[in-house]
Amino acid sequence: MKKLTAVVRQEKLEVLKQALFDKGIRGMTISQVQGCGNQHGWKEYVRGTEVLLNTIPKVEFEIVVDDEQVNDLVQVVCDAARTGEVGDGKIFVTPVEDVIRIRTGEHGPAAL
Ligand SMILES: Nc1ncnc2c1ncn2[C@@H]1O[C@H](COP(=O)(O)OP(=O)(O)OP(=O)(O)O)[C@@H](O)[C@H]1O
Ligand SMILES: [Mg+2]
Repeated sequence: MKKLTAVVRQEKLEVLKQALFDKGIRGMTISQVQGCGNQHGWKEYVRGTEVLLNTIPKVEFEIVVDDEQVNDLVQVVCDAARTGEVGDGKIFVTPVEDVIRIRTGEHGPAAL
């Protein structure tokens, strides 16, 4: 199993959620996060004072799937989240050792 952690634009929350539902993905965790990529450190005026903005709000999706679903899912996320402008986000893929459904005690892919 693998976990996809996708950090995307806030305005892509609904479209990505729907694209994942359409693909039959059921379990996911969505969080509001703050982050920066290559272009951090720009200046903006807030109530007349110049402030350095280092991070911007993003939305993070965590989705654990079987290994063979990973490539498909990466494509779904890219298609839904891409605008072509800087700041579209990233997908991190990490191994997952085990998953346990608390209600039944099932382990592994059966618990996804
Ligand atoms: N190396 C990283 N490690 C952890 N989180 C990251 C990393 N790079 C980006 N992120 C997260 O992804 C968000 C979006 O990053 P972003 O798309 O701006 O990356 P980028 O490398 O600057 O690419 P681009 O040039 O397309 O903007 C960041 O706000 C941050 O939350
Ligand atoms: Mg960036």
